[in-house]
Amino acid sequence: MDKILIRGGTPLKGAVHVRGAKNAALPLMAASIMAEAPCTLHNMPCLHDVFTMDKLLSNMGMEIEFTGRYMTLTPAGLTSPEAPYELVRKMRASFFVLGPLLARFGRARVSLPGGCAIGTRPVDIHLKGLEALGARICIESGYVVAEGALQGANYALDFPSVGATENLLMAACRAKGVTRLTNVAREPEIEDIAHFLNGMGAQISGAGTDMITIVGVDSLGGAEHVVMPDRIEAGTFLCAAVATRGDVTVFNANADHLPAFLDKLRETGAEIDVHGSRIRAAAPNGIKAVDIATRPYPGFATDLQAQVMAMLCCAEGVSHIKETVFENRFMQAAELIRMGADISLDGNTAIVRGVPRLSGAPIMASDLRASASLVIAGLMADQGATAIARVYHIDRGYERIEERLAALGASIERVRE
Ligand code: EPZ
Repeated sequence: MDKILIRGGTPLKGAVHVRGAKNAALPLMAASIMAEAPCTLHNMPCLHDVFTMDKLLSNMGMEIEFTGRYMTLTPAGLTSPEAPYELVRKMRASFFVLGPLLARFGRARVSLPGGCAIGTRPVDIHLKGLEALGARICIESGYVVAEGALQGANYALDFPSVGATENLLMAACRAKGVTRLTNVAREPEIEDIAHFLNGMGAQISGAGTDMITIVGVDSLGGAEHVVMPDRIEAGTFLCAAVATRGDVTVFNANADHLPAFLDKLRETGAEIDVHGSRIRAAAPNGIKAVDIATRPYPGFATDLQAQVMAMLCCAEGVSHIKETVFENRFMQAAELIRMGADISLDGNTAIVRGVPRLSGAPIMASDLRASASLVIAGLMADQGATAIARVYHIDRGYERIEERLAALGASIERVRE
């Protein structure tokens, strides 16, 4: 397994291009299951999770061509409405094929995703919503077996789950009649999926608000779509810039997708400038502690919590970070403490007391965003070197992160073992 070696203490300087959003690309690929003609996705990120979804859809009979950042998906050969455990357990987003398979075939057999490092992550909201749309659902040997003709319905989600919103939105496109989903997720990725589906001939309105209306249609055609920029990748690079007292501009970003995050960065005293699709962050004199609570969009994104925790380890004062979306998303704290951070956990709140510096250490990644947090901590540590093991976690969501950070002046390399 590869390791990433970092010698920190250098302020990051320069510019970095943000890639297409992983958390839009994956459901977009799933949505193409419902098309009766080829679909084309531009600005696709080259990530392990995208390769996993590619393999999953190809196993079903989808013909996929992925060159550069351009992907074509031809659904004509789709025959098998199955998502096996071997692939779903590797990537939870595989579960997003359930709604599209049910819509296309009237039946589906998809492995339950199981839990992961950040929580048990049940799928009850997905399943209750599909039942409300007329599907008959049963659980057999760890698989969800669903079948039935979908009928439009009104359904209020218990929690604005991103994945459940996407699964139900896609299924409702082919239900007979009108569906109104309330208490839905409002993340920008939902709007991106809705835009693509409408391009396929769906009739969706209200994406991005807390109520989405879908008028079912008899078929969906092919469509062409440009994947939205990855707001979490943008936020991660901006965190790294501030954490290292650097000055970095991210290109191809959308500041409107990061309202709460950018406000918090400003509250720390960092300089934040937005010009069109460019966002600059600089903190030459360090930052002050702030209090944060993660929330569904447009609140502070849970996917940036770990990165900000690392950044606040050397802030002046005491920060309180409350994680309200997942039940176990402080996995990075123990590793940060080994690097000299002063963090104590009280239920779903982490108290981070700023220390003058972090020290390099051998550490281990546990999940995607925790591993990004550890990279940021390694970049901050101005004493000793940091070796991060299990970097496959980070390759799931960030393209060649060590090369792109090195281009910003970091002393970082990947060691293949
Ligand atoms: C999506 O996961 C993202 N993944 C996650 O990003 C992100 O952290 C999360 O949304 C929240 O923004 C993708 O888009 C591929 P949820 P998802 O359903 O859809 C509970 C990353 O790092 N819940 O909104 O799985 C659940 O347990 C990943 O890129 C239920 O209880 O998240 C959690 O506590 C990590 N029942 C909360 O809702 C359900 O049926 C939010 O989960 C579904 C969810």
